[in-house]
Amino acid sequence: MNYTIALLKGDGIGPEIVESAVEVLRAVGKKFNHEFEFKSYLIGGIAIDKVGEPLPKETVDGCLSADSVLLGAVGGPKWDNLGGNVRPEKALLGIRSAMGLFTNLRPAKLYPALKDECPLKAEIVENGFDIMIVRELTGGIYFGERGYRDGKYGEEAFDTEAYSRMEIERIARVAFETARKRNKKLTSIDKANVLETSRLWRKIVKEIAKDYPDVEVSDMLVDNAAMQLVKNPAQFDVIVTSNMFGDILSDEASQITGSIGMLPSASLGDTKRGLYEPIHGSAPDIAGQNKANPIATILSCAMMLLYSFDLKKESDAILNAVDKTLEQGFRTFDLARTTTPLSTTEMTEKIIENL
Ligand code: IPM
Ligand code: MG
Repeated sequence: MNYTIALLKGDGIGPEIVESAVEVLRAVGKKFNHEFEFKSYLIGGIAIDKVGEPLPKETVDGCLSADSVLLGAVGGPKWDNLGGNVRPEKALLGIRSAMGLFTNLRPAKLYPALKDECPLKAEIVENGFDIMIVRELTGGIYFGERGYRDGKYGEEAFDTEAYSRMEIERIARVAFETARKRNKKLTSIDKANVLETSRLWRKIVKEIAKDYPDVEVSDMLVDNAAMQLVKNPAQFDVIVTSNMFGDILSDEASQITGSIGMLPSASLGDTKRGLYEPIHGSAPDIAGQNKANPIATILSCAMMLLYSFDLKKESDAILNAVDKTLEQGFRTFDLARTTTPLSTTEMTEKIIENL
């Protein structure tokens, strides 16, 4: 088969890790007889520098006409002092929204080979953990009304969290379907003791639950969830939560897998066209040094093959190659405590050898 993939390399380590992932996809194409065509578009800080805006129309059009999109990372200190509307991060929110990607799947699992990198006590992660975070991605406080106004004490800024029934229903359904394909256990995370949006969220999750009697569902407050994630991560199977809580909890979950450099993500909407990206940022401190861990981006490609192209065998081949490479003891800088670290390109080569 032929597939067109839009590449949004972005800033910092973005170009390096996307190049690695492209190499892996090329190798998969060769092995399984698929043709992947790659087209690069500007996004983030580099787009600001080159054309004066973080998300040029050409980029949006390119993504909407591709079969799928692979993104590196955006942002960096160079663009940190720009206003909210022209920041590189605005492009990320813009492309998620333009493509209608309301679901963000963020799997966080502990690789047996990385058990020693997990900062939790050995007895807590004895049996490992394998969590799928389903984060709502195009609503909530990220997209609510915001601005400045004259407050009681002078200058005041505000951001608003709003969720509609439609938005909650559709993400809840994705979460229940996801749980159904896994261990049938869903935890819905909110702040219903304080927030009205959370109370609506809870009510709707309970309604949708009636259609999924085979899935065991429970609610958890977000502060407790943050605690439970480090106390007993194995209790979670699928988590569903709002945009902001999902952002925060997925970083926490990544840290207990050993490194944020390991976590992929898939952003999906109503069509097969998804956007795949590592959950980590642009890591400007190590950009251009061939030091970044490419695994999160490579695993994001495995998610693309599965969710956008229905290529399960090919997706599994990547997962197995990553497993094997870690089992063989190869580590990048973020994970190499006791071994000599491999560079980004060396790690990529090892994974390709193991395909
Ligand atoms: C993420 C990132 C983004 C988010 C930022 C860069 C806007 O942290 O994908 O988790 O908050 O969604
Ligand atoms: Mg984040």
